[in-house]
Amino acid sequence: MDCYIKVYGCQMNAADAHLVSRLLADGGIEEVEDSQHADAVVLLTCSVRRHAEDRAQGFARTMRGEGKKVIVAGCMGRLRGEELVKEGIADYVLGPDEYRKIPRILKDSEVSDTVEELETYSDLLPVDSGGVSASFAIMRGCNNYCTYCVVPFARGPERSVPYEALERQVKYLVDKGVKEVFLLGQNVLAYAHDDLRFADIVEKVSRIEGVERTGFLTSHPRDLDYEPVQRMADIPELLHFFHLPLQSASDKILGMMNRRYTISDYSERINWVRQTFPDAYLTTDILVGFPGETAEDFRMTLDALKRFDFDFAYMFAYSERPGTKAVRMASQEPKEERLRRLSEVIEVQTRITRRRAETWVGRNEDLFVTAPAPRRRGMLAEMKNHRSVILNHTARPGDFVQARLVGVKGWSVIAEPAVKEVV
Ligand code: SAH
Ligand code: SF4
Ligand code: F3S
Repeated sequence: MDCYIKVYGCQMNAADAHLVSRLLADGGIEEVEDSQHADAVVLLTCSVRRHAEDRAQGFARTMRGEGKKVIVAGCMGRLRGEELVKEGIADYVLGPDEYRKIPRILKDSEVSDTVEELETYSDLLPVDSGGVSASFAIMRGCNNYCTYCVVPFARGPERSVPYEALERQVKYLVDKGVKEVFLLGQNVLAYAHDDLRFADIVEKVSRIEGVERTGFLTSHPRDLDYEPVQRMADIPELLHFFHLPLQSASDKILGMMNRRYTISDYSERINWVRQTFPDAYLTTDILVGFPGETAEDFRMTLDALKRFDFDFAYMFAYSERPGTKAVRMASQEPKEERLRRLSEVIEVQTRITRRRAETWVGRNEDLFVTAPAPRRRGMLAEMKNHRSVILNHTARPGDFVQARLVGVKGWSVIAEPAVKEVV
């Protein structure tokens, strides 16, 4: 039985794909790199927007058409469940807490219907993918119930991985060459286990011997406090990278979204970050066309993009998700208008993103080399703030190279090794 894993959606799903790889390996099932050579396919699906569901369903149908066994796992598996089996899209459906059943399903063994409540998979060792950077889910689920979002329904309530388990996983990969550790969760700032909170975890992980860089994703702006930001400034390994999803800059819309911060709270948090980390790389998520978003609300979001000067933004048009509160709100914006607003924010942010890229030019940086660049043109490397650059130099992944950022080409910042002056 050869199995192919296909991933959709967010970083949590990418991390889950590693869990599934581990479960396959432990279950004696071969994982293949190409779906053509597979007898079975596991899809780690996403339901956050309609488009993500449509793509996964299309792929599942094609795979079933080719006679492969199809397991639709992950968020859509949990939310759409049996409906997908009835429609002939999947042979099996499993939620994000049920991956342990996969090897048994593939071997046609007896599989119970019980859902393992609130998994953390913390006993599983990660898989070594040979890289120098690795991600670890430190918590799963979400309690925030933003009114547009399916994640709390798909992934269930928040639960955190015990530190000892995380340490074991991190050490396992550090021994295999990983130097950069990313701590993942839908809202990592809500980490809570025993009396440890998020800042404690960042400190502890950073102190593990061999960990040279520590980053994290995603932070809910409401949960970002001043004191932990200050504590983080004392962690030399910490990447100066903050992803703080704003969604909208209208207090009315933020209220309807149940984000529980105002635009002035958000500004305050951005100021803390910028004052503490002047070289911070700041990114955000923007959602346009939420029900009731007027032209004026939308303009506030455009203005905020210009004011906050984000390095990058992930931008989305609102997609109605069954079961969420927002679906039942009056005045759903017409689809065309949502798309028009989306193209307008993209246009504005693209200019900002380009200009922000230029601001790094001229700096000297100790770059962290991560992988060969596409088309063998130098190496991909990262600044202290996680911004990626192309280094015109031969170096090995995991090396640190003193370099000068010399220019921008397309979307990429280009770096040259700093030449030591001979005295
Ligand atoms: N936990 C993260 C977000 C996870 S989903 C957070 O709170 O920031 C990633 C992004 O998808 C969200 O930030 C939001 O911008 C977008 N998104 C979520 N639901 C959506 C929907 N129904 N339609 C369009 N975009 C959505
Ligand atoms: Fe969704 Fe909000 Fe939870 Fe993020 S915080 S996953 S947007 S409900
Ligand atoms: Fe999608 Fe599930 Fe992530 S819905 S965004 S894959 S948590």
